[in-house]
Amino acid sequence: MADASHVMWGGRFREPMDPRLDRLNRSLPVDRRLWAEDLATNRAWVHALEGAGVLTAEERGTLLTGLEVVERVLADGAADDAGDEDIHSLVERLLGELIGALAGKLHTGRSRNDQVATDLRLWTLGALGRLDVTLAALGRALVAKAREGLDVLMPSYTHTQRAQPVRFAHWSLAHAWPLVRDRARVADAGRRTSVLPLGSGAIAGTGFAIDRAALAARLGFAAASPNSMDAVGDRDFAVEAVFVATLAAVHLSRLAEDLVLFSTAEFGFVVLGEPFTTGSSLMPQKRNPDSLELVRGKAAQLLGRLAGMLAALKAMPVGYQKDLQDNNAALFDALDGACAAADLMAGVVAGLTLQPGRMAAALDAASLATDLADLLVQAGRPFREAHGVVGALVRRGEELGVPIDRVPAGEAGAIDPGLPAVLARLGGAEAAVERRRTAGGTARAAVLAQLEAAAAAFSG
Ligand code: ARG
Repeated sequence: MADASHVMWGGRFREPMDPRLDRLNRSLPVDRRLWAEDLATNRAWVHALEGAGVLTAEERGTLLTGLEVVERVLADGAADDAGDEDIHSLVERLLGELIGALAGKLHTGRSRNDQVATDLRLWTLGALGRLDVTLAALGRALVAKAREGLDVLMPSYTHTQRAQPVRFAHWSLAHAWPLVRDRARVADAGRRTSVLPLGSGAIAGTGFAIDRAALAARLGFAAASPNSMDAVGDRDFAVEAVFVATLAAVHLSRLAEDLVLFSTAEFGFVVLGEPFTTGSSLMPQKRNPDSLELVRGKAAQLLGRLAGMLAALKAMPVGYQKDLQDNNAALFDALDGACAAADLMAGVVAGLTLQPGRMAAALDAASLATDLADLLVQAGRPFREAHGVVGALVRRGEELGVPIDRVPAGEAGAIDPGLPAVLARLGGAEAAVERRRTAGGTARAAVLAQLEAAAAAFSG
């Protein structure tokens, strides 16, 4: 339907559009999902035109009734196989077929440039809301797992090497706090998205007496844009939404990465719920963490989308250019992907079975080396000296093939006369976690305090 594209601007053209241009230019398959936003924008514009004296009350009524029918037709899938250039031209055509020439008044004083920018902002506000809901649900799942694992001890890791004992709850909440920050970023991005471009025309503003403040209020925007040239080409809000989604996806990816490791036979700290794993077509024994791998993969795709959007924008002169059109697909894809990934991770986390025995078995005495040095410090030794003494004990243990707490007292005393006494007071992993009582530490009371704070952060 190459000629449908000419409906809106065919007057000055003699020849139809080349099908090769049409193929890249036609955005309906992507932007048809903006139909609800486009109808909202159209309705608000009808009221604005009446306010500006362009439409009579009767015309306003006819247009609004017509848009209602168009809404039903679109809800029934009219956009699915239409040949129109984009959602805006489709709505205008459908309205024209319903109510005739009056439909031609609707585009008075506006452009698809301010229209698509408005639709996209409305869509983005909705998508940010959906992202917030899914991130909060994942946060609650992590908090619930933390509660379950409050008294379960495990090694923490730096450089993927065993470091110090922590509570499983501490680990779980370490993945929850980034989501608290993500949700704050979602809210912040939403504030900057809530600015109305409509009434900017193609670039220079509208030639009709539109009350833009009333228009903004009707569409639920906090304010109207202050500069029409900026408003039609500004996609900062979309980039920000994709960045926020990408950073959230990166956080999900780190959680996924931890769980891939922890669910291996080698670690065995957790067992993934069967519904979140797949089998192998060849190896009957396999149960694979595809859910986690898909989440990691999604994060990679999102950050590619973000880079693509920024690259398109950096080359753009002020105002609207068609480069922007492909950014719409990136925006939709990124927000969809982040929501789907967060949704999936909430299920994965809820479905985890903890294996406290395997975690405890991984807590070797070496993970208490820092505690031993700290005890020497309490006995009056400078930390650097204590570090060296314990290092020598670790080396001696390795030579003897025993853990540091099994090095014979005589051997330990030969390394440093202070060692046997502090070794006797070292205790196990439980003692080590309870020594870390400061806020943010891994002692039970400290973890419980952050657990309640995280629960409150995800309750709303
Ligand atoms: N389909 C276009 C987009 O999504 C709408 C704006 C078209 N404006 C124009 N001047 N051709 O970006």
